[in-house]
Amino acid sequence: MAKPESIVWCDGSQAEYDRLCGELVAAGTFIRLNDRLRPNSYLARSHPSDVARMEDRTFICSQKKEDAGPTNNWIDPREMRATLTRLFDGCMRGRTMYVMPFSMGPIGSPIAQVGVEISDSAYVVANMRIMTRMGRAVAEWLGEDRPFVPCVHSVGAPLAPGRKDVAWPCSEKEKWIVHFPETREIWSFGSGYGGNALLGKKCLALRIASVMARDEGWLAEHMLILGVQAPSGEKTYMAAAFPSACGKTNLAMLIPPAGFSGWKVTTIGEDIAWIKPGPDGRFRAINPEYGLFGVAPGTSQHTNPNAMQMLQANVIFTNVAMTPEGDVWWEGMTDEPPARLIDWQGKDWTPDSGRLAAHANARFTVPAAQCPSMDPAWEDPAGVPISAFIFGGRRSTTVPLVVEAPSWEEGTYMAATLGSETTAAITGKVGVVRRDPMAMLAFCGYNMGDYFAHWLKMGRAVKQPPKIFRVNWFRRDAGGKFLWPGFSENMRVLAWIVERCQGSARGQETPLGLMPRYEDLNWSGLDKVSAARFSELTQVDAAAWKEELRSHDELFAKLGARLPAALEARRGRMHEKLAA
Ligand code: OXD
Ligand code: MN
Repeated sequence: MAKPESIVWCDGSQAEYDRLCGELVAAGTFIRLNDRLRPNSYLARSHPSDVARMEDRTFICSQKKEDAGPTNNWIDPREMRATLTRLFDGCMRGRTMYVMPFSMGPIGSPIAQVGVEISDSAYVVANMRIMTRMGRAVAEWLGEDRPFVPCVHSVGAPLAPGRKDVAWPCSEKEKWIVHFPETREIWSFGSGYGGNALLGKKCLALRIASVMARDEGWLAEHMLILGVQAPSGEKTYMAAAFPSACGKTNLAMLIPPAGFSGWKVTTIGEDIAWIKPGPDGRFRAINPEYGLFGVAPGTSQHTNPNAMQMLQANVIFTNVAMTPEGDVWWEGMTDEPPARLIDWQGKDWTPDSGRLAAHANARFTVPAAQCPSMDPAWEDPAGVPISAFIFGGRRSTTVPLVVEAPSWEEGTYMAATLGSETTAAITGKVGVVRRDPMAMLAFCGYNMGDYFAHWLKMGRAVKQPPKIFRVNWFRRDAGGKFLWPGFSENMRVLAWIVERCQGSARGQETPLGLMPRYEDLNWSGLDKVSAARFSELTQVDAAAWKEELRSHDELFAKLGARLPAALEARRGRMHEKLAA
């Protein structure tokens, strides 16, 4: 159908990666960075129309519209297939079609899944090799009859004979990211960027996997997974969901602050978790990915030293700025910007040019194995046992620093009503609370009401369900300043969560759930948070909460009859508790 000029079966080897990167340099897609400063690393600059995931171009084409639900875009699958047939006919003319077998999760793990992506972009191949376990070993494991998710991708820019290619081919006219949940297929047209094109990530590991998980009794979640090792050596694993732009990568790689000697945080994953009931009656989680496709701006020695170390070599950077020495820079990387740069669009830049040097959604693609904090068990095919789920959003008011849900059901309510204030990078609007249930709004491949029902059910799928917590690092004082110092200090909250899981830490009951008192957190090495400030951070204002509960209406009303009755009832009970 696509009529490519040639076909390459990817073996996933280093030699293949090096050859393709060389071709990308020759084509002008990649710039090889200074090997002394950033060995074996490249910079790509995308077309300005192709810089992010596109939620308005993402479709869940289930047979019935109600099965996609009110939070997803839907088109009748027959109509969509006709459109795709038109778009894909001849779309790879003049280009190479790459065939990439890949495994999400360690090959052969009982929690892993296999996909096969075909794509006409060598940039996609290079990124997929970092982001997934890709190549010959997967094809061999797949054999003749194991199932896989077919993933079809084209940049949608056929090359006429004799025409010279552009550095970043894509379709300026139309972009489509399409999922068929019943047949578990992914079709993507027109974009070469990130989650639109690296189909193992958001498309397979979240949208299609969430449907598999519903049907098969597991969870595919937009969660980081981390381990906290206490001075006793005991390790507690937790998975945490945050909407985009809430510092998930930084939390996953946290280095404990002064005052926490003997404590250690290890990383399993920083974006996606696949979680299955294990034989031991606990949830077991794997990171289905093999690399990170992380947001560069804001990453620094202060916010995330582990990430800075991870990014020293073997990285593909997309849409960051370049220094005159051939290294990279982005906003927030250093306090003072360099005097001169080439910006993400290839133009000269100085600090007074009045525009961003790196795109706000500039990215790095890097092997997870390069992260200094990776847990020794990060590739364990059996997964790690999960003791706690954490849900967090960006909220300048109302939501306290940390609260433990009294039950799985109440935790599900908390997660379902998760909200986060938008940042300029997401919507262009600042400070508007967007409901983002379980941080899955853009990633749930079926009806959100059914997803809530699935969550309620999964609490009964294991003997020992994890405790559920909600956190908020982003509360502000009357002057608009953040109350919580953030970053490594988040360790203080994680330590309390660990001790709650072990049954040792204390707290006090509130209408929302159990919260630590000032004396329940370990403050050693930090004098910035006084008892008075802590009470601002943890204040539960009854009037604000009544308003908050009312605002959950908007989401709940949208879900109509598919909203589980247990969640609506939960809201009623919280109103009563607050009134009391
Ligand atoms: C991401 C996102 O890119 O959540 O991971 O937006
Ligand atoms: Mn994400």
